Amino acid sequence: MDPTETPDKLDDATLQLNANGELRHLLTLKGLSAVLLTEILDDAQRYLTSPGALPARSRALAGRTIGNLFFEPSTRTRASFDLAGRRLGADVLNLDVNTSSRKKGESILDTIYTLEAMQVDVMVVRDASAGVPAFIAQHVKEHVSVLNAGESDVSHPTQGLLDVLTIRQRKSDFSRLTVAIVGDIQHSRVAMSATQALQTLGVGELRLISPPALAPDPNRFPGATIVDNLAAGLKDADVVMALRIQRERIGDLDGVPGVDEYFAKFGVSHDSMKRARPDAIVMHPGPMNRGIEIEGTLADGPSSVITQQVTNGVAVRMAVLERVGKLLGSQ
Ligand code: CP
Repeated sequence: MDPTETPDKLDDATLQLNANGELRHLLTLKGLSAVLLTEILDDAQRYLTSPGALPARSRALAGRTIGNLFFEPSTRTRASFDLAGRRLGADVLNLDVNTSSRKKGESILDTIYTLEAMQVDVMVVRDASAGVPAFIAQHVKEHVSVLNAGESDVSHPTQGLLDVLTIRQRKSDFSRLTVAIVGDIQHSRVAMSATQALQTLGVGELRLISPPALAPDPNRFPGATIVDNLAAGLKDADVVMALRIQRERIGDLDGVPGVDEYFAKFGVSHDSMKRARPDAIVMHPGPMNRGIEIEGTLADGPSSVITQQVTNGVAVRMAVLERVGKLLGSQ
């Protein structure tokens, strides 16, 4: 964000709903009701087809334009928003950040106003700075929607939705589940959004496992159990989610174990999974570092739902785009 552009301290959870309580922007999963989350998951489920079948399509966003503004690298989120938009009949503009005028000093708001002037209706935003999606949402015209596609270590709401959709497809009752998230919790927007969604949907137990140097501030994760021992954290877990070390967000690597030590102590592997339930599923949001936070053959094995997460990512983004798309032009 430009130094002169300080995000206002508005509550994202309030900002994202209109006066009727409908989702106008998607900035965070915090504060969204279990009813609304379930509706989005149900909508996403309807957008899934069998392997080998043609992907689901609709004309829900025909004539609309989606702008993908990724000011941080992405493979899955950017590609799936692109596909989701096209499968709903929208035009999709993928802004190439490396050749955009932000590189020449243009402010983020001037970039947004430029795209608004080209009649972009939905801005999908990823940024390394906290507060950017909400800041944009506060400045766009009333008919424009902003979707958070990954915000610093704060929020990744569509990732949280695809994670709980994947869990719901494999495990029926959230209240009976023990979910263990393993890795760099401190710097993880994925852990934050997954936690918010799981707690809203009534997860039985949530454990956050990491070396002490990567443990989160407990105040950011109320209700979760913070654990620094992998074997204890995985005991009888139904769902195990491995996370990457977010080196791009760690200033000082002091206290963070080296690769071999990290895998030995915190790697999700065939061996460490013996502590979890026999039918436990293994998740990873990607991108994966095989041999560091997860054993490669486990990621490719029968307990892994990692590619199912990716498939669900397109369906979830279609569901969110369709939902905000119904309000475009009606604000
Ligand atoms: N899970 C996720 O956000 O992946 P990308 O960084 O590839 O979008």
